[in-house]
Amino acid sequence: MSPNPDEHDTIVVRSNGPLSGTVVVPGAKNSVLKLMAATLLTDGTFEITNVPDIADVGIMGDLLEAIGVDIVRPSPDRLLLTDTGDLTPVAPYELVERIRASVNVLGPLLTRCGHIRLSMPGGDDFGARPIDMHIAGLEAMGATFKFSHGYLEAFADRLHGADITFDFPSVGATENLLTAAVLADGRTTIDNAAREPEIADLCEFLVAMGSQISGVGTSTLVIDGVEPGDLRAVQHHTVPDRIQAATYLAAVAVSGGELLIEGARPEHMTMLLERFGDMGMVIDSSADRRGTSMRVTAPDRLRSIDVATLPYPGIATDYKPLVITMLSVADGVGIVTENLYPGRFRYVEELQRLGADIRTSGHHAVVRGVGRLSGAPVKAHDIRAGAAMVVAGLAADGETEISGVHHIDRGYDDLVGRLAAVGAAIERNPGPR
Ligand code: EPU
Repeated sequence: MSPNPDEHDTIVVRSNGPLSGTVVVPGAKNSVLKLMAATLLTDGTFEITNVPDIADVGIMGDLLEAIGVDIVRPSPDRLLLTDTGDLTPVAPYELVERIRASVNVLGPLLTRCGHIRLSMPGGDDFGARPIDMHIAGLEAMGATFKFSHGYLEAFADRLHGADITFDFPSVGATENLLTAAVLADGRTTIDNAAREPEIADLCEFLVAMGSQISGVGTSTLVIDGVEPGDLRAVQHHTVPDRIQAATYLAAVAVSGGELLIEGARPEHMTMLLERFGDMGMVIDSSADRRGTSMRVTAPDRLRSIDVATLPYPGIATDYKPLVITMLSVADGVGIVTENLYPGRFRYVEELQRLGADIRTSGHHAVVRGVGRLSGAPVKAHDIRAGAAMVVAGLAADGETEISGVHHIDRGYDDLVGRLAAVGAAIERNPGPR
């Protein structure tokens, strides 16, 4: 079911004055992929709605199909996943290396099948991404691990509950232990758990399935294991994507104008919205029967701020390329500190090609705002860096041509169409076929 993103496509952006209109934010990549993996916990047909139309959903679908789940996509935003229990608990290299979230099959498959063979997930363009915390937590629950020929094998007759305290609130490790604990024998407590809204979404999905979880949305999750027969397939609407929402906020911030952003949940973005307010943006949130929305108005010129990335509810590392792009054209100097992925500054070289004045040193970037950027060919090195290049193109004189667009396709649902509909001069050009 995976689309075939053409690696040679480019996006061309030109500054075209203020944006205006409405953008509807789709479901979150970093939730839907985990919901899909969690369908490995029990038999039946699951229905997931508000599914973003992104390449990673297709890749996760390919992985689940390889394991034995049947997938139908009646419309781009809706998935039907049928798990008959006839599963092959193997996650092969060619799929795992394409998508980090494939590591999320570890917990459900180990607890359901007692065994899993998982190709070791690699790093990302922004640095190493180890899974030692996933492994240590599952070992505390009784799993044993063997590593050979690039594959990690895990075994457990039946996992048992354990008290686990993380050194750091890892998103992926929290999710893997949570899904493993659902069918473990006894109580598991995860302390210093990650509490991103996508994890709360996964907890709600698991609870609807019949799992016993308390502390949802907090840093202490308590899971009382249930029997396999207590779980059932469910219907679930994916939480909106706060990173895509932030991308449209950044787009209007550098272009000027006013946007209505519908579907996003402002309460999932509180700290970011406060900091955007400090930069001079006016953001009015409202809620009615149709859901929540934000009316966002950009100032004539953004003001610089200092920002540090932190686990939720702090400013997410995934927002950072957008924030650095905004600071590139803001009035003053801003210092950005990265606390999650020290190597996540590679796109700075691309922004410098557009005339941004940015110096990096270790975990820090010092951004001295310039009046305008100047269009040039640039590369998208990863999903978020790619989106930041598009936003930078909106703030640049002349034409900015972005290559590596397949990275953007992994996490953005029609970024080009959504921006064009609110007045951006943006188009996608197919590469040579
Ligand atoms: N870490 C370890 N050991 C572990 C696990 C994590 O050292 O066992 C370290 C990582 O190396 C990293 C930090 O902890 O320095 C954060 O890792 P975390 O486990 O929290 O992140 P993740 O689950 O691998 C998810 C998102 C990322 C997002 C991070 C942080 C998915 C599929 N990915 O990754 O999203 O940046 O949380 O919020 O959910 C993206 O969407 O583009 C993306 C990269």
